[in-house]
Amino acid sequence: PTPRPLAGRRVLITAGPTHEAIDPVRYIANRSSGKQGFAIAAAAQAAGADVRLIAGPVELSDPKGVRVTHVESARQMLDAVEAELPADVAIFAAAVADWRVANEGDQKLKKTDTAIPPLTLVENPDILATISNLKERRPGLVIGFAAETEHLIDNAKAKFARKGCDWIVANDVSPATGVMGGDRNTVHLLTKDTEGVHVASWPIMTKDEVATALVAEIARTIGPAA
Ligand code: C5P
Repeated sequence: PTPRPLAGRRVLITAGPTHEAIDPVRYIANRSSGKQGFAIAAAAQAAGADVRLIAGPVELSDPKGVRVTHVESARQMLDAVEAELPADVAIFAAAVADWRVANEGDQKLKKTDTAIPPLTLVENPDILATISNLKERRPGLVIGFAAETEHLIDNAKAKFARKGCDWIVANDVSPATGVMGGDRNTVHLLTKDTEGVHVASWPIMTKDEVATALVAEIARTIGPAA
């Protein structure tokens, strides 16, 4: 194997949570450290890829040699992803908030004795589904994540149908696993062909090892640019 198996390939990765503003000082968000996505960016860079990382708010430093765009909200994340196309591979590791606040305040909401402010939510764009369903400029290999606390494989299989991606990395994030914010991860790689869905269950590894294994699998599948 070549030391730079993804040379000449552009790899786009989303990572971290999104923050959806309620007002200038408050937001709703998903729980996500961004560690797994950042590890994948570093591994793809080490494999010689031209890596574009779109990161929500995280407390991690930018991986060396990776072009990073920092965003806050899901809509900003989608815009930033579209701005980095075309790409050979797109990996959606971000924990995107499914909803944003419809009535975002431009001033801080005041606490009063009388009323608790109601929050009306509207749906955010599904970035993975949007990119998977592009007619033009769809990346050749689109990979989604399925973080579940129960019925992991069944939920991940259902996600294939809903999202239109090529692979799904399914991981158990139930609190007992310590995956959330931790350094280790147990993942299952779901792929599909004409015979159906295939599940490869990997042993528990560090997030860096998961990243290296995933990048190796990608390199085996697409190889370096011609
Ligand atoms: O539907 P669910 O959030 O479980 O799907 C997870 C996958 O979809 C992840 O790959 C995540 O990055 C992606 N996703 C997205 N945009 C959303 C919601 C999820 O890209 N609005």
